[in-house]
Amino acid sequence: MTKATPTPERDVPKGPLARPEERGRQEPTDVGDLARTTRTPPAGPLGHRAKCGVVGVGYLGQHHARIYSQLANCELVGVYDVNPTAAATVAEAYKTQVFPSIEALAEACDAVSVVVPTDKHCDVALQLFEKKCHLLIEKPLCVSLEEAERILEASKRNQCIVQVGHIEHFNPVMAFLEQAVESPRYIVADRLAPFNPRGTEVGVVLDLMIHDIGIILQLVRSPVNRVESIGVNVLSAHDEDIANARIVFENGCIANLNTSRVSLKKVREIRIFQQNAYLSLDFMNQVGHLLRKQAGTLHKEDIPIEKGEPLALELASFVDCVQHHKTPKVNTDLGRTALALAIEITSQIQDLCKIS
Ligand SMILES: NC(=O)c1ccc[n+]([C@@H]2O[C@H](COP(=O)([O-])OP(=O)(O)OC[C@H]3O[C@@H](n4cnc5c(N)ncnc54)[C@H](O)[C@@H]3O)[C@@H](O)[C@H]2O)c1
Repeated sequence: MTKATPTPERDVPKGPLARPEERGRQEPTDVGDLARTTRTPPAGPLGHRAKCGVVGVGYLGQHHARIYSQLANCELVGVYDVNPTAAATVAEAYKTQVFPSIEALAEACDAVSVVVPTDKHCDVALQLFEKKCHLLIEKPLCVSLEEAERILEASKRNQCIVQVGHIEHFNPVMAFLEQAVESPRYIVADRLAPFNPRGTEVGVVLDLMIHDIGIILQLVRSPVNRVESIGVNVLSAHDEDIANARIVFENGCIANLNTSRVSLKKVREIRIFQQNAYLSLDFMNQVGHLLRKQAGTLHKEDIPIEKGEPLALELASFVDCVQHHKTPKVNTDLGRTALALAIEITSQIQDLCKIS
């Protein structure tokens, strides 16, 4: 198997909040182009379509399998799951094989998605690295900084690419924010979801708030000065189901994150206040508007967002990195930094709120 050598991280395009007439037509991104390609396999340094597999084909892993089976520059080689019925159902749906072990799947693949529960990420990833597989590890990277170090060490030693599944970074809403946000001063992020036992192997901070932590770290681009957090458990026995964190960055920006997994409704919204404008965007519905300060008044404009399936864009980008030996947009640096902040928030909640 050809090994990929990571290259320096790609610059994220940043620019002023252009007025509509200056903004012009948005060129589709590489990722968008790839997700929409026809089935003619592009030639890449790998020399063949990337052979991809999925470990863990539950709620989310089945979609990884579906998308790998549809992408032009990859081949879905097979799946593995400790639940043989889940593996057989997904293999039948996407016309692929069930492998009898992680090791057997790894032998056949260039790249694998790790879509098992978070507390199993490290164990599964380490087995796959030993077979030189490039990995898309679902978010959060793992459950502790010790595990993160083991993942980093093994990926470097085996020269494997690692992308962390911070899916919102591939949401077209994020593509707009990366261009429009300049020196944000205050950010409010709300992420609410109804209760679901899936994901409760960790608290709501590692399960859901991690998305907004990743988004905000990417947009603010400043070290964290301090964080203050509170939270409570409602249905979970030992972990928080509701959390609030106020993050103060060294550049003065403040972010306020509200997250719940015991809500009656689903919300994924972000509001960003900066010198020249206020932006309000909805990651779930991929819509938004901005209020621009002009001659002492505020003018409302709808934001044109070309909708796209974030998971398809994310996996297309990962396969592109594997094909062309690129460093992923969401690499272990961001995955680890987001995890460290999420662990700090969780620990403050455990200490202050005495969740038991
Ligand atoms: N990016 C997102 O928006 C998003 C959304 C949902 C879940 N996730 C992440 O995806 C991961 C999986 O979540 P899910 O909701 O699909 O969970 P799930 O419980 O529906 O699926 C997990 C699957 O992994 C299998 N499994 C468990 N241990 C295994 C092992 N050692 N080897 C092989 N298979 C094993 C289970 O049998 C199950 O089929 C979690 O890390 C979660 O945080 C991310």
